[in-house]
Amino acid sequence: MLVLGIESSCDETGVALFDSNANRLLSQTLHTQMAMHAEYGGVVPELASRDHIKRLVPLTKRCLQDAQKQYNDIDVIAYTKGPGLGGALLAGAAFANALAFSLNKPVIEVHHLEGHLLSPLLSEPEIQFPFIALLVSGGHTQIIAVRGIGNYTLLGESIDDAAGEAFDKTAKLLGLPYPGGAQLSQLAALGQPEKFHFPRPMLHSGDLNMSFSGLKTAVITTVNRLRAQHGFRLPENIRHDLCRAFQDAVIDVLFAKVQSALHQTGISQLVVAGGVSANDALREQLKTLNAQVFFPRLEWCTDNGAMIAFAGAQHLDKAKEAAGFTVAPRWSLCRENDSIQ
Ligand code: KG4
Ligand code: ZN
Repeated sequence: MLVLGIESSCDETGVALFDSNANRLLSQTLHTQMAMHAEYGGVVPELASRDHIKRLVPLTKRCLQDAQKQYNDIDVIAYTKGPGLGGALLAGAAFANALAFSLNKPVIEVHHLEGHLLSPLLSEPEIQFPFIALLVSGGHTQIIAVRGIGNYTLLGESIDDAAGEAFDKTAKLLGLPYPGGAQLSQLAALGQPEKFHFPRPMLHSGDLNMSFSGLKTAVITTVNRLRAQHGFRLPENIRHDLCRAFQDAVIDVLFAKVQSALHQTGISQLVVAGGVSANDALREQLKTLNAQVFFPRLEWCTDNGAMIAFAGAQHLDKAKEAAGFTVAPRWSLCRENDSIQ
């Protein structure tokens, strides 16, 4: 079966073609709106929706061309139903359903986080169930026990900001351009450890939940104190050390919680996914766990169409007629009860 995957939940438009018989990705195209939103210091939802509308057709055409396929070769269209920005999701859902309707092909609704969670399997087919998944994206930080496709138990999550969100907010505070997460981690690599110390929130909470919003406040307090001393633009080495201290705090918490999850469940495989899984220091630290650790390829850490096509291919039994659709801006992966019209 040839699965066309469509991703449009936030600021990336992704399209991909996955051959489920050969278990092979044939082609993928991606457009990131990063530069457009950078001007505003964050994602502007209305601009995001409009840009998805503009990009979907050309990206799909190029994806088909690259795989040397025609529209009629597509067997089923998988698209992100949620969670994400309502308007952005609607753009992808409307396109996917209209195309499926015109081709008389079915659609599959995909949960964006399931796309992330399964993305390491695209390049590492040897991963076996069960595994613990650490999902660290801009919108979510969750630890999930994955016992099979669709069998997801939430073990713990951030009770406030997601790890990626904390990276982005701290980066903004330090004057880095949007989206700052990746840049902050580059500067952290130049910083000295232990020059500053930020709290490890909920490290000893006794459960697998996390909290990152207090960390941001701790950084603000320290930055304000340093600015009073050094002026608004802090010396480079101090900025690097701040980045390092912030990143070390986030990584320590993620590492400890994942270590407990592995210990508590007796599961010995870990899959790390979502935008923050691109972080080198996090990868290195998690590799020291007493577990087999898998990461997506860098190109599949952040939002993309390949993970949606792949997740869709795991749910071919859920293919349904393209006749009316809903999106689910808020949608729990482990409880499917809050989709909205
Ligand atoms: O999964 P993703 O593309 O979008 C969501 O579904 O949310 O993740 C984007 C997030 C952003 O917060 C971005 O700053 C963060 O991933 N990110 C990183 C790195 N690369 C991307 N955070 C830390 N270190 C990185 N290298
Ligand atoms: Zn994502």
